[in-house]
Formats: sequence, structure tokens, C-alpha cells
Amino acid sequence: MMTSAQMKEILQARASAVENCLAVCLDDRAVPKRLNDAMLYSLLAGGKRLRPVLCLACAALCGCDGSPVLPFAAAIEMVHTYSLIHDDLPAMDNDDLRRGMPSSHKKFGEATAILAGDALLTDAFALMCRTRCKPESVLKAVAEFALAAGASGMAGGQLLDMQYTDLGAISEEELRRMYSLKTGAILRASCVCGALLADADAAAVTRVSRYGSFLGVAFQVADDILDVVADTESLGKPVGSDIAKGKMTYPALIGLDKSREYAKNQADAAIAALKGFSGQEADFLVALAEYTVIRAV
Ligand code: IPE
Ligand code: IPE
Ligand code: MG
Ligand code: MG
Ligand code: MG
Repeated sequence: MMTSAQMKEILQARASAVENCLAVCLDDRAVPKRLNDAMLYSLLAGGKRLRPVLCLACAALCGCDGSPVLPFAAAIEMVHTYSLIHDDLPAMDNDDLRRGMPSSHKKFGEATAILAGDALLTDAFALMCRTRCKPESVLKAVAEFALAAGASGMAGGQLLDMQYTDLGAISEEELRRMYSLKTGAILRASCVCGALLADADAAAVTRVSRYGSFLGVAFQVADDILDVVADTESLGKPVGSDIAKGKMTYPALIGLDKSREYAKNQADAAIAALKGFSGQEADFLVALAEYTVIRAV
């Protein structure tokens, strides 16, 4: 058992380690200043750092503690930040606020925002290759993460998100698939890559993979609920954005109460997938899954 306060303390410590690694890796590079400024603006604007922390926690769960995995974890946050910059663009969700600050395209203009996203995504894979684990494990993890970010993962899910906008009702099955791709794929891969970098056996990789998939769906449903019930100040991004844009979400399709139930049910499934693991890291992952849905109650 781990309390939510204990979990948050560990989350914070790991998030700081990721931020330090990012600051060092992106400091003083021979790249056009405006591009580096735009990359750092979005990257160092805060954020929960959930995905890199999942990677570090799953690596630790499978016996590899800390620093060797840090470059990979930091690179995951670069990919996530790219996805947020592009998600906010006028051609996509057209949102003007992100992480409590003007979105990248508001601050730097669309062209620079697109390029900052492109550069974060691409440079992330160079950083991943600097992970100090066994080369075969790094290769496997890089391939896994590339697939999760690409057409069969997040990019594909974002396409479905756009296609479903203003479409009226779609089936719950279609909605779940969209969530699994646009959000679940990266969360799942963050967990799986941690396990792969720790050289975990196939059974352990499967378990963390299931944890990450369920957590990903729970997390996106919670994000949708918060878009309806939270305030802009605490969220750091515009609330009511999904309804205003005609987005297809769980709250839109099945209502708030059933969405909360569904998120809880997905988080419970994530926790159940960890059966067989024990100790502080397993407790941390359980507490993190619980927190994911509690924050949207
Ligand atoms: C926002 O992710 C995008 C979704 C997939 C819902 P986060 O809620 O993790 O955003 P940050 O990183 O904390 O800003
Ligand atoms: C984002 O979903 C999914 C991504 C892959 C970036 P949302 O569009 O709901 O994320 P927010 O609410 O803008 O952070
Ligand atoms: Mg979106
Ligand atoms: Mg959005
Ligand atoms: Mg959202």
C-alpha cells in the first residue's frame, strides 16, 4: 500500500530528474536559437511528466534502477511535448493555452510551432539511442516506441480523433479504439520500454503492457471529464474545449457518471494486470493508477 502523498513525492522526484536531463541535453546546442527557444518553451513549461515516470518506474519494477534509462525517459517527454504542440495547432484542436501558458503557435507562430514539434520528435529518437542499457534492448525499445508514436499508434489515433469530430454518434468500440491509439499507445509503450530496457522476461513485459494500455484509456477518459468539470486555472489548458469543438468523447457519448465508472473500471483493470509484482515499485504504479481517476472525481 502506498498513500497518494507518498506516490506524489516519488512522482515529483522522478519528474525533476527527467527535467534536469532535458535541460542538460537541450542546452547550448548548435541549432537556430528561435527553434531551440520554442522547443524549450513547451518542454520546460511544467507538465506532470507521467510518461517518462512510467518508463522509469517500470524499469525499476523489472530491476533496473534509475540513471541508465533516464535519456530514454526524457526523450519520451520530448515526443509527448511534440504531440501537445501539434494537437493545439489551428488545424487540429485550435487551443490557445497549454501548461498554463500561450500555446506554441500563439507564442511563436504556426510555422515555428510545427517545426518545434518536428524537431522534438526527431531529436527524441537520437536521445533514445544514447540510453546506457544493452544495445539490443535499446534497439527493441526504440522500435517499440516509434511504432507507438506513428501511424499504428498516436498519429493514427489523432487522425481518428479529427475524423470523428462533428460526426454525431459513433460506437463505443470505435471510441475505445481511438483512445487506445491516440493516448494508450504512448502510455503503454512508455511502460513496455522501461521493462525492455531492464531486460525483463516476456511475461513481465506482457503484464506492464496490459497495465499501460488500460491506464492509457483511463487517463484519456479522466482528461475528457476534466475538460467538462475542472477550471482552466488548475488545468493549465482551456476547459470546455471538447464540447466547443464537437469532439467525440466518453462524456459526450455516455455522460459524466458513466464515464467516471468507466475510467475507474479501466484503472482497476490496469492494477489487476500488475498481479505477480510486489514491492515499492508495484505499489507506486497502483497508486498512480488510482490517482489518475481520483483526480477526475
Ligand atoms: C495531455 O496529457 C494529453 C492527453 C493525452 C490527455 P497530460 O495531461 O499528461 O499533459 P501534461 O504533460 O501534464 O501537460
Ligand atoms: C490529446 O488528447 C491526445 C494527444 C495525443 C496529444 P486531447 O486533445 O484531449 O489533449 P488535450 O486535452 O488537448 O491535452
Ligand atoms: Mg486532441
Ligand atoms: Mg487537445
Ligand atoms: Mg483533452
